[in-house]
Amino acid sequence: MKLLDIYAKMKSDLDILEGKLAQSVTSDHSLLSETSTHLLKAGGKRIRPVFVLLSGKFGEYRLETLEKIAVSLELIHMSSLVHDDVIDNADTRRGQLTVKSKWDNRIAMYTGDYIFGKALTIVTELKNPLIHQILSKAMVQMCIGEMEQIRDFFNTEQSIRDYLLRIRRKTALLIATSCQLGAIAAGAEWWVSNRLYRFGYNVGMAFQIGDDLLDLLGTEKQIGKPPGSDIRQGNITLPVLLALQEQGREQLLHELNKIRESDGAGDTKKALNIIRRSAGIRISEELAARYISKATQALADLPDIPAKKNLTDIAHFVAKRNY
Ligand code: IPE
Ligand code: IPE
Ligand code: MG
Ligand code: MG
Repeated sequence: MKLLDIYAKMKSDLDILEGKLAQSVTSDHSLLSETSTHLLKAGGKRIRPVFVLLSGKFGEYRLETLEKIAVSLELIHMSSLVHDDVIDNADTRRGQLTVKSKWDNRIAMYTGDYIFGKALTIVTELKNPLIHQILSKAMVQMCIGEMEQIRDFFNTEQSIRDYLLRIRRKTALLIATSCQLGAIAAGAEWWVSNRLYRFGYNVGMAFQIGDDLLDLLGTEKQIGKPPGSDIRQGNITLPVLLALQEQGREQLLHELNKIRESDGAGDTKKALNIIRRSAGIRISEELAARYISKATQALADLPDIPAKKNLTDIAHFVAKRNY
């Protein structure tokens, strides 16, 4: 099922959310409004706000409350992307120039901080310290994950466990938190928000493994940026780690070393070919599928409302996504 078909049933609420998002980054400062609106207008899947709204259906669904969490989550995600593109020296995102490329790194750093600040302004309109606490913990974990990624650039000796721990922090926990907070804000029972958290965590792990696979297998048109970006930057992802366990390891190490020495300017074709031919692709796909199946299992005991079907459909989309 396509994401747009799944979203169709929530279109009117999502339209309201888009308006709130646009409003949230607009300010008297024209440059900050312009830089943050640039990324917002470029689109994106809006998967985190959608998870907030769908999880809110398991309690008392009130859009006025849920939208604050949904907007805040999307803004936190966006701000991390603006910073991530500085770290990764990336020129395109969502098929458009990155903020760091259209403007520069300094502008991007404060655009990211500004969007972060806006996220806090909005979520703290809800006078619920539990929500603030859960959200801030997820943000801290995300920073640790991103920092570990920098530390492990070109580290071919890292373990698969290191990789899994890192993607848990940088991606899965924020998605888990989106589901959990949607449920909490709607006053759902504790066990319900726990199940949704588990759902989000497992979807999030599959989501990042899928993102890492797409970076190796996707086309520029599909992923909105040149493929092979991770390798160029030295971000050693799961399929690469698995390929490094196979015969031909020496050749791959040699290619990765050349890329490292060229400071990202070297040719990634040979390395990409070795990885694409390795069993690392299939094994990574299988692991992502296992996370998706754990995610849908986490929903098993929840009431059979339409939102449950929507969440399951999104999980299946994540398993097969090509953008
Ligand atoms: C990109 O996230 C960064 C990751 C955590 C993989 P998304 O794939 O959700 O990005 P957008 O919001 O759709 O652009
Ligand atoms: C996600 O990781 C970034 C954050 C969680 C902040 P990636 O580096 O894989 O995201 P893309 O591929 O640049 O979108
Ligand atoms: Mg990146
Ligand atoms: Mg990526």
